[in-house]
Amino acid sequence: MSDPTHCPSPVTRVPPIVLAPLQGVTTALFRRVFQRHFSGVDRAMAPFIPTTTGRLPPLKYFRDVLPENNRDSLPLIPQLIGKDGHDFREAANFIHDELGYPEINWNIGCPSPTVTARGRGAGLLRNPEGIESFLEAACAGLRCRLSVKMRLGMERDDDYLALIDLLNRYPIVEITIHPRTGRQQYEGRADRERFADLKSRLRHPVAYNGDIVDAADGRAICDRFPDLSSLMIGRGAITNPGLPAAIRVGTPEAEACGVPALARFHDDLYDAYRGALEGGAGPVLAKMKEVWNYWAAVLPEVRRVLKSRTLPEYEENVARALGGGTPGTGARMTRRVG
Ligand SMILES: Cc1cc2nc3c(=O)[nH]c(=O)nc-3n(C[C@H](O)[C@H](O)[C@H](O)COP(=O)(O)O)c2cc1C
Repeated sequence: MSDPTHCPSPVTRVPPIVLAPLQGVTTALFRRVFQRHFSGVDRAMAPFIPTTTGRLPPLKYFRDVLPENNRDSLPLIPQLIGKDGHDFREAANFIHDELGYPEINWNIGCPSPTVTARGRGAGLLRNPEGIESFLEAACAGLRCRLSVKMRLGMERDDDYLALIDLLNRYPIVEITIHPRTGRQQYEGRADRERFADLKSRLRHPVAYNGDIVDAADGRAICDRFPDLSSLMIGRGAITNPGLPAAIRVGTPEAEACGVPALARFHDDLYDAYRGALEGGAGPVLAKMKEVWNYWAAVLPEVRRVLKSRTLPEYEENVARALGGGTPGTGARMTRRVG
């Protein structure tokens, strides 16, 4: 939704656009297919890998960021979640040394109750001492660049005030801020006034993330904060994969990707998951339905797709949902108002 207090500028500087990590959705396979079909995204952040106490996480946790699974794809920033700086440093150094990534992101924004209850993710935001001892241990001997993805706080939207001085003391290359509290999860609106306040207090490069669903709004944020280091987009880019390019181009015509383009993307993603996943229809349907949950906002007939139980049933329902978009019709996705 556009910010009514800001007039769009004729000269908008759009910083690099980052595809947000969405656990279960923006998998390595999704990212590769996405970048084959859509432009406008400069890099992606991978969904989090949890650190494990006193040892490296099992190798299977790293599958999503293995270089062989990310060839011909978006440049990637792996992400770790955890509350122990030593465990983080060991896992990050492994990812840097063995997998070749120059930057690792630390997630202190995840609002999932199972994560925050264990003092991880956004749960750490109410614990400045925990963040300080984490950073002290993590930064001593870290061989890669460190970036952070955070919220405003856990319970309160000003929890961050207690974190400014310590965040400013450590060599963090970028802080991505999703301006909600952990308690809010995804309720309410991303608070751009709080974002402005937090950004103004940090000495680090700052990226904005939250609730960008149309090009005008994406550009309004760039106009309001012309020195953003990047703009991260999650749900808006899954719902409308044409959004990043539209923000860059800045014309209303570029706003929504056509249904034919979405259908081609769908077909490639579906084929890729069918080729990659073992275990029959179940895992493939589960993965595809994760994406359809977002398309439910802009396409008709999605309820049936979400209820499909077999692959033939799914294909039939998909044909119906994407039917208006047979190539050449130029049909466009329409966003429901509200
Ligand atoms: C299903 C789901 C999974 C997510 N997984 C992650 C994750 O693994 N790491 C992370 O930093 N953020 C994660 N997020 C948060 C998003 O990266 C992003 O911060 C949030 O969706 C707000 O941005 P948006 O309004 O552009 O979607 C997830 C969000 C959703 C909805």
